[in-house]
Amino acid sequence: SAEYTLIKTRIEGNVGVVELHRPKALNALCTDLFRELNDALARFDQDKNIGAVVLTGSGTRAFAAGADIKEMKDKDFVTNYTKGFLNLWTEQIDRMRKPIIAAVNGYALGGGCELAMMCDIIYAGEKAVFGQPEINLGIIPGAGGTQRLVHAIGKAKAMEMVLTGNAKLTAKEAEAAGLVARIFPIESLVEEAIKIAQEIASKSQPSVQMAKEAVNAAFEMPLSSGLRFERRLFQALFATKDQKEGMAAFAEKRKPNFTHE
Ligand code: CAA
Repeated sequence: SAEYTLIKTRIEGNVGVVELHRPKALNALCTDLFRELNDALARFDQDKNIGAVVLTGSGTRAFAAGADIKEMKDKDFVTNYTKGFLNLWTEQIDRMRKPIIAAVNGYALGGGCELAMMCDIIYAGEKAVFGQPEINLGIIPGAGGTQRLVHAIGKAKAMEMVLTGNAKLTAKEAEAAGLVARIFPIESLVEEAIKIAQEIASKSQPSVQMAKEAVNAAFEMPLSSGLRFERRLFQALFATKDQKEGMAAFAEKRKPNFTHE
């Protein structure tokens, strides 16, 4: 929409779509880009008609080639610390109730790979490349590359990527390793991601949001607490109209008409 310059947004059906749009810098993630992204995501999260979000890069060369190195190069520790450098990156994404699907075509490097991993599902175009090259700059990943990547692909591969900076994952390797849920042809990636987002958006929103919360709890809690959390959410969903509707529709052999209540 008109108020953004570094991203583009649109709504397709019940899906909010955000395109990172800084093609000349391979969508390097500068502060202003993240301000716009956070604003767009907050609006989508509040919009009752939107049930899921797709985040992608403009064109097919890059999802994002990382944090903006030119913006970052003169920063110092005290300012980073007192101003909370990179806190902006997780401020909105962390509080999103609705699922976000990353559709990754081209480079997802450094902060770009980390941004994709902050999303709930990653789909990749056939030529996608994932990497954490921060070590080549004299730093380390700062937005989840040493944490989420380990959860996604295990220590051996993550350690190799983070320590060498040059060991990249192709789309196929990323899928085999469990980072990516599915691979699509480059030209149809975004369309396919939107289709799946639309399918998610057609479910009952309270159940989708609780499902997301419960899966995320698996990374935060010991198993017994996670199982108790899951059980309580499961029990709670019987307070929704959509549970009654969903089960009645099954018994009556018809499609459910969810009202998200
Ligand atoms: N920051 C700022 N500008 C970037 C950028 C970045 N991360 N990545 C690419 N660009 C810019 C380039 O400077 C270049 O701009 P100019 O035309 O003005 O010179 C433009 O995008 C195109 O890039 P290249 O000419 O380098 O394109 P290429 O096809 O030769 O190479 C690439 C592509 C391999 C992705 C290469 O651009 C590259 O290595 N980029 C940096 C990747 C990187 O190190 N990312 C990690 C950043 S640190 C980080 O993300 C910290 C964190 O954990 C949060």
